[in-house]
Amino acid sequence: MGLRISPSILSADFANLERDVRRIDNADWVHVDVMDNHFVPNLTLGLPVLEAIAGVTDTPVDAHLMIEDPDRWAPAYAEAGADSVTFHVEAAAAPVRLARELRGQGARASMALKPATPIEPYEDLLGELDMVLLMTVEPGFGGQAFLDIMLPKIRRTRALLDKHGGDVWLQVDGGVSESTIERCAEAGADTFVAGSAVFGADDPSAMVDALRDRAAA
Ligand code: DX5
Ligand code: ZN
Repeated sequence: MGLRISPSILSADFANLERDVRRIDNADWVHVDVMDNHFVPNLTLGLPVLEAIAGVTDTPVDAHLMIEDPDRWAPAYAEAGADSVTFHVEAAAAPVRLARELRGQGARASMALKPATPIEPYEDLLGELDMVLLMTVEPGFGGQAFLDIMLPKIRRTRALLDKHGGDVWLQVDGGVSESTIERCAEAGADTFVAGSAVFGADDPSAMVDALRDRAAA
């Protein structure tokens, strides 16, 4: 099974984004957190900054949209250079239509769930997706503590994905670090977002490798 590390630039230096993105050029993906002050109580960046990031790296970019009305706004992120667009199912009016639109644009379609959102009602949608993102903190901020209570949901989601077959990635986001990534991998995650763990490290690139090693252990 492939394992992917996706550093979140939310914990990078926003005045030096190009430098920090280059620091993690051994990562599998770059995770860009888009927040709108409505879906979550924080405001980060939007299309122009995502486009600029995609323009300075060969690493594929995943746009994690923590915004209202992704049906309206998400396709523009694929247009701007996101290789994967992750929308929150709690905010999407028509997740199947949106996933099909994103795939039609050539992007990977990914659906995110907040901690209190169950996966089971979305079982029949899994074939429309390239990735499921399970939040392991309440979305909005980097540097929060990993929620161990999410481990059973990771296991249940892994079981559903295995049952359905296909190659849908299972990503976790929030509080992923050297001390929590093994639990996530053991529960069935294969794609790992890490913000503060990577950019808070003295050597972010070495931390990416360390996280990948831990996940594979
Ligand atoms: C939180 C964001 C995460 C965040 C993770 O709402 O979606 O991607 O950057 O940061 P850490 O890894 O520090 O929990
Ligand atoms: Zn995120």
